[in-house]
Amino acid sequence: MRIRTLSEYQVAYKKSVETPELFWDEIASNFQWKKKWDKTLDWNFTEPNVKWFVNGKLNITENCIDTHLETQPDKIAIIWEPNEIGEEFKTFTYRQLYHEVCTMANVLKNLGVKKGDRVCIYLPMIPELAFAVLACARIGAVHSVVFAGFSSSAIADRLIDAKAEFIITSDGMSRGPKAMNIKEIVDGALDKVDFIKKILVINRMNSIVNMVAERDVWYHDANQGVSDECPAEEMDSEDMLFILYTSGSTGKPKGVVHTCGGYMVYSAYTFANVFQYEPDEIHWCTADIGWVTGHSYIIYGPLANGATTLMFEGIPTYPEVDRFWSVCDKHQVNIFYTAPTAIRSLMAYGAEPVDKHNLSSLKKLGSVGEPINEEAYHWFERHVGKGRCPVVDTWWQTETGGIMITTMAGVTESPASFAGYPMPGIQPSLVTPEGKPIEGNDVEGYLCIDYPWPSVLRTTYGDHERCRINYFATYQNKYFTGDGVYRDKDGRYRIIGRVDDVINVSGHRFGTAEIENAIDENPAVIETAVVGYPHDIKGQGIYAFVILESHAEASDDTKKSIIDTLVKEIGPIAKPDKIQFVPGLPKTRSGKIMRRILRKIAEGDTANLGDITTLIDPSIVDLIRIAAI
Ligand code: WT7
Repeated sequence: MRIRTLSEYQVAYKKSVETPELFWDEIASNFQWKKKWDKTLDWNFTEPNVKWFVNGKLNITENCIDTHLETQPDKIAIIWEPNEIGEEFKTFTYRQLYHEVCTMANVLKNLGVKKGDRVCIYLPMIPELAFAVLACARIGAVHSVVFAGFSSSAIADRLIDAKAEFIITSDGMSRGPKAMNIKEIVDGALDKVDFIKKILVINRMNSIVNMVAERDVWYHDANQGVSDECPAEEMDSEDMLFILYTSGSTGKPKGVVHTCGGYMVYSAYTFANVFQYEPDEIHWCTADIGWVTGHSYIIYGPLANGATTLMFEGIPTYPEVDRFWSVCDKHQVNIFYTAPTAIRSLMAYGAEPVDKHNLSSLKKLGSVGEPINEEAYHWFERHVGKGRCPVVDTWWQTETGGIMITTMAGVTESPASFAGYPMPGIQPSLVTPEGKPIEGNDVEGYLCIDYPWPSVLRTTYGDHERCRINYFATYQNKYFTGDGVYRDKDGRYRIIGRVDDVINVSGHRFGTAEIENAIDENPAVIETAVVGYPHDIKGQGIYAFVILESHAEASDDTKKSIIDTLVKEIGPIAKPDKIQFVPGLPKTRSGKIMRRILRKIAEGDTANLGDITTLIDPSIVDLIRIAAI
């Protein structure tokens, strides 16, 4: 399954397009199956209905853990680096990981969790987060990890949508200089949710929390006398493995569903090839397990390859701005996978904090989450990679489960700010907004994928129609990514950014409608329009144009109260960068907000706003423009 040279890539790619089933059949045969599949692929993009490795039976944790017990039981599977430098780091060998996961799996069973049940996991980056994810997978429960930065209200929405009756959380967390009681945040979600059966609480902070008798259970009590062996549940390839919520251009976040067989094969395949993983390399992906990057490239991809994966509880700037680099040296990290926003924020401190570290262990660097600008790319390559390490810019999405377009470290090459070539099995195509195919090279268009790959999302939880409309109905027989892209003369792809109403703030995805709805919850607000604008560090910032009720004052206090509303409705990650009070919004006769104009104003490009004659009240544009921030 390994590609090592450019020509091997070309051969693999050709085969993956000409005989995709044969191609994936061979790759999937490298894994441990309890029963082999009858048919490699069943699909149509109209319903949509995609099934890979039909009737195959497996358990992903056997591939991530048990397999390695035979060959390398004492190899370190997870290195855990805590938030505080004064606290000891921890390591877990594959054997230890096995027992930790089995123990937690048995605890979950004892609490009544059954195959198919949804378990919401709301935890900081502690080892128990990885154990919890794998324990769910072990017993066939569906994990729904919610990033521990979302608010009570956002947790409640996700619990309700997933009908999750079980929660795993902790008493508290510390990230950087801040400590928080996150059990309280979970409790806050339960005002609106009355079907929770059990909450399993990990003690991280020794803090005093409110435990409700019968419902809330400390993990350190529940695991007493529990066996550390737990047979792996037999799962169908197409049984759900997890749900992960992500924002779209409309409404509330949707629960992207991934299934066991295809997701395992694709996350493992891409990990091995994109990073050109070699045995004994130490891999550090700095994402949080609350996002898909953490699912695929902290947990499943690396562990399925028997790698050592590093989990970091803290933030890049605590206690000092060189924390990333000191962790790289401390644990002799070989593969370092991070986000452009992190690189840009660290660049702002200059090269000295990074240059003072040796970083000689680093061999390969990766970037993910948003387009990486050339300046950040070169800084990363020069100062972190010391000019020795290939940088892979990996384009993918929560919905794709794994890396789709990228260079492979040291195998294929691309200029800065180009993601590069499609992975084998990925068939990108470009269309005009109206859906006309754009052939050839040196062209720009909307990015679609024409053929299924093993980890394409199967549905959006509880609402298949939404999945169809969002991804498969815009352009016939194509998966629509929502991204705009340029294909150069050599067939390499450069991602331009979202073409829908999704904004990408520090690698986090928000639907403008989602933020608008949240702001509208504030009693001072009549209506809001939100757009993204270029932001030096975050990639995009959130710019909110707000119409106030007549009784409300256009003051800083009102702005603060709007920010508080957003923090309450979504979480601190959704704080707007700019709020402008406006007397009205530019609307067309049909009542649609002309966001194009607001985007221009937010970008500060007010000289040429284009045609505004179709607006009901064109004069509003001037009023907004002169007061722009
Ligand atoms: C959106 C997906 C799975 C990665 C983490 C974010 C943007 C992602 C890149 C990249 C340019 C990128 C796209 C995509 N994006 N990676 N390397 N270059 N843009 O996952 O939250 O599902 O967001 O992030 O716009 O559609 P996500």
